[in-house]
Amino acid sequence: MPSIHHRIATLQDDLNPLRSQQRLALVPTMGNLHAGHLELVKIAKQHADIVVVSIFVNPTQFGIGEDFESYPRTLDADVAKLAGVGADYVFAPSVDEMYPILPPPTKVIAGAIAMQLCGQSRPTHFDGVGIVVSKLFNIVQPNIAIFGQKDYQQLAIIKQLVRDLSYPVEIIGAPIVRASDGLALSSRNQYLTDNERQIAPVLHQVLQDLAEQLAQKLKEHNLTKLALDSLLEHSYQRITDAGFEIDYLAVKTTDLQPIDYTAQTTKGVSKELIILVAAKLGKARLLDNQLVIVK
Ligand code: PAF
Repeated sequence: MPSIHHRIATLQDDLNPLRSQQRLALVPTMGNLHAGHLELVKIAKQHADIVVVSIFVNPTQFGIGEDFESYPRTLDADVAKLAGVGADYVFAPSVDEMYPILPPPTKVIAGAIAMQLCGQSRPTHFDGVGIVVSKLFNIVQPNIAIFGQKDYQQLAIIKQLVRDLSYPVEIIGAPIVRASDGLALSSRNQYLTDNERQIAPVLHQVLQDLAEQLAQKLKEHNLTKLALDSLLEHSYQRITDAGFEIDYLAVKTTDLQPIDYTAQTTKGVSKELIILVAAKLGKARLLDNQLVIVK
């Protein structure tokens, strides 16, 4: 069984003597663990001697009217699952332990990268992620930390945070884990009704189809804004027709910058692209993304 800590001081008492000899990995989570989280732990174990999993439903990353109160809290079941994959420590602090003053007067501002995509509908979300991840890095002082690529924008923001604040932490992005029908695993999938759960894989199917079409255009060096807009419109329609309410569907470079069409059409240069989507199905807001791979 992993050793469970609710207090920063006792966790650090345990971890500090280990640091000189052993590599520490941190897997930050909000709990309610599924196979995707367990995969993060397995990856962490390949890179480190000691794996610390944090479980904390972070209030500063939830906006007004979002699901902070109802977010599923399942610590006992989570710890049992973590025992199965060999996590060494679980850090499950209270809100008071993490935030002596809430909201904390000190801010972490993620900047322009956080204002697009999810940031449009959740304007304070990534600042909340930034402060909690900063605190977790300071508390655990890991050598590496693992984050899922499903939250692609979050991963990009954390890489920026590490660079800008000089955290000596290596960030590893872990591939999306999917159900057999293609739906990306997420704690929020449990908000789906049975019927919605049948519909949900459409999101991945549409992204895959769009990725293939974009790859073809890139290969032929004829991805124009007009062509992309028309492909996006078609994909948008398919997702909407399936019953989703789309928050955004966008194509960006892999560092989340706008596409430079001139570079792609005239010189035949194609930066790697990524398709990102957030869409509501009933009560669940689902995220997914797909790299465009040119073969
Ligand atoms: O991805 C999540 O579960 C959360 O945003 C994180 C990184 C654990 C911060 O609360």
